[in-house]
Amino acid sequence: MRELSAWPYPKLVAHRGAGKLAPENTLAALRVGHALGYRMAEFDVKLSADGVAFLLHDGTLDRTTNGRGRADALTWRELSQLDAGSWHSPTYAGEALPTLAAVARWSRANAVAVNVEIKPSPGRERETGAAVAIDAQALWTGADAMPLLSSFSGEALAAAYEAVPALPRALLGDRMPDDWRERVARLGCIAVDLDHELLTGARVDEFHAAGLRVATWTVNEPARVAELLGWGVDTIITDAIDMIAPR
Ligand code: G3P
Ligand code: MG
Repeated sequence: MRELSAWPYPKLVAHRGAGKLAPENTLAALRVGHALGYRMAEFDVKLSADGVAFLLHDGTLDRTTNGRGRADALTWRELSQLDAGSWHSPTYAGEALPTLAAVARWSRANAVAVNVEIKPSPGRERETGAAVAIDAQALWTGADAMPLLSSFSGEALAAAYEAVPALPRALLGDRMPDDWRERVARLGCIAVDLDHELLTGARVDEFHAAGLRVATWTVNEPARVAELLGWGVDTIITDAIDMIAPR
């Protein structure tokens, strides 16, 4: 039984800032999550053509902005002109894509912890992992809770580990890798962050016995949240921030 790492994070985390209540991965979304009492947010980060870390889920701009094409084809100056709110609702028309730096300023001022999901554009995995880790370390220096880094990309997470070993990392997955013990050791992870459908009480016990914290996503049913918390899951990421009380 290995000792668990420190875990300065709340049990409930707002997915993409505010779930579906506001345009995902924007400062407006973070404000909505905060207004509903959430004190941690997950969001997705990638690099512009000129290497600026900013928030966006998809590989392309089409779904959540008025831009078109690959997200990393534009410079930050070009990306900063886009409307990332009108697709959601008129309330958020004109909402801008935020840089990681802007989000750091807001989250630190409002005592909101963050899970930075590194979501590299194809072919830029190592560059993105390293750049986001270096930015996160600098932007959150001295914070009570450092950003929890995660990524579906093993390459990005490995580069983040090499660039800033001290930041906490979670192995993110939508399937259960057979070699999870080897992977978490190689990537210096303190947690696993898995699709909740992969979890059972026995698996949570197994991860905890291995010294790993357990995070999970995206859980939108209050009964399932209660079940997972009963198993001792450390942190749950949800879209349903208006139905599931933060804690
Ligand atoms: O970080 C967990 C979760 O956000 C992963 O899925 O597609 O919403 O980024 P996705
Ligand atoms: Mg995500």
